[in-house]
Amino acid sequence: MTLTPIRPQPQPGILSIAPYQPGKSQAAPGVTPVKLSANESPLGASPAAIAALREISLNPEVYPEGTSRILRDALGEVHGLDPERIVCGNGSDDLLHLLAQCYLGVGDNAVMSRHGFNVYPIVTRAASAELIMVPETEYRADVDAILAAITPQTRVVWLANPNNPTGTYLPHAEIQRLHAGLRPDILFVLDSAYAEYATAPDYRPGVDLVDAADNVVMVRTFSKMGLAAARIGWLYGPAHVVDVLNRVRGPFNVNRPAQFAGAAAARDRAFTEELAAYNATWRTWLTTALHANAIRIVPSEANFVLALFADADTARAAFSALFNEGLIVREMGVYGIENGLRISIGPEAALRRLVEILRAFGAPGGR
Ligand SMILES: Cc1ncc(COP(=O)(O)O)c(C=O)c1O
Repeated sequence: MTLTPIRPQPQPGILSIAPYQPGKSQAAPGVTPVKLSANESPLGASPAAIAALREISLNPEVYPEGTSRILRDALGEVHGLDPERIVCGNGSDDLLHLLAQCYLGVGDNAVMSRHGFNVYPIVTRAASAELIMVPETEYRADVDAILAAITPQTRVVWLANPNNPTGTYLPHAEIQRLHAGLRPDILFVLDSAYAEYATAPDYRPGVDLVDAADNVVMVRTFSKMGLAAARIGWLYGPAHVVDVLNRVRGPFNVNRPAQFAGAAAARDRAFTEELAAYNATWRTWLTTALHANAIRIVPSEANFVLALFADADTARAAFSALFNEGLIVREMGVYGIENGLRISIGPEAALRRLVEILRAFGAPGGR
């Protein structure tokens, strides 16, 4: 008989969490790595943001302004939003944790799409709530299936749009239909981490939905736009949600260099546009080139593509072939897509080399 030792115990659900696995960043010995595993910017960061980081880092003795005022003002100005309805976080992960902590608890559940972002299970279970994962159609969130999965205990719906790791998106009309089917007491968290990269004409990041409803928040990040290291996320929501989050968040949850860098990056529209244009060009190129290699690519609106191989063994072999040449992509086992590899839209030379290497891994006639 095993006895449970008497010692401090975590809250229910926490020991069922599988810790988040970041993309690999080290290459084989002696090989210089090119990281195509974390959806980082291939063009660096906004020069204005780098200058702000340099300057503000020189005074580490000063506390940050607790509400991230200068960052919220810049976001309000650039996106036409009321800064009072913005909350900033230490990356958007911070805000996802905060939302779960404030709106989920024992006996509640949260609903997400089968291949939704892997932080949603973590934050849901960390709040001792149950998770309901809903099957997708062709790697895309299925609105009817999500609505059918809602139970009286559902308190939160998590949805990334575009989604990581599939790259698929739902048109605004589908997002509206999903929202219209939710009870008004369910918080709809629209995670628009990749909004800057979406080019589909019927895509919208969700500002209008937040404005029209009392139960929708839009979560955004600077991580995909060149500032992943600075850890800056933000959220736009109804005043009552903003009030709740501001009571609970860390009092200085965004550091001072990050606040100034984020404000500078938000105003640097030229850099944002340059990065988005680069991404659109090379996402199309990569998709076409891998199709020509007889590798199936899930249509992407993000800054990565999901490549699907004939089987898990082929995906593993493709990963190794790339890894041995220093090209690090993201394995998808943790998402249950054993035959998939997620490839960030990285530097041109790396993408060209990747396509050459993957020529050997297509399934003839098999896309
Ligand atoms: C859909 C989605 N949401 C949120 C995040 C978290 O971003 P960060 O915490 O770096 O702001 C990511 C990062 O991969 C993501 O893919």
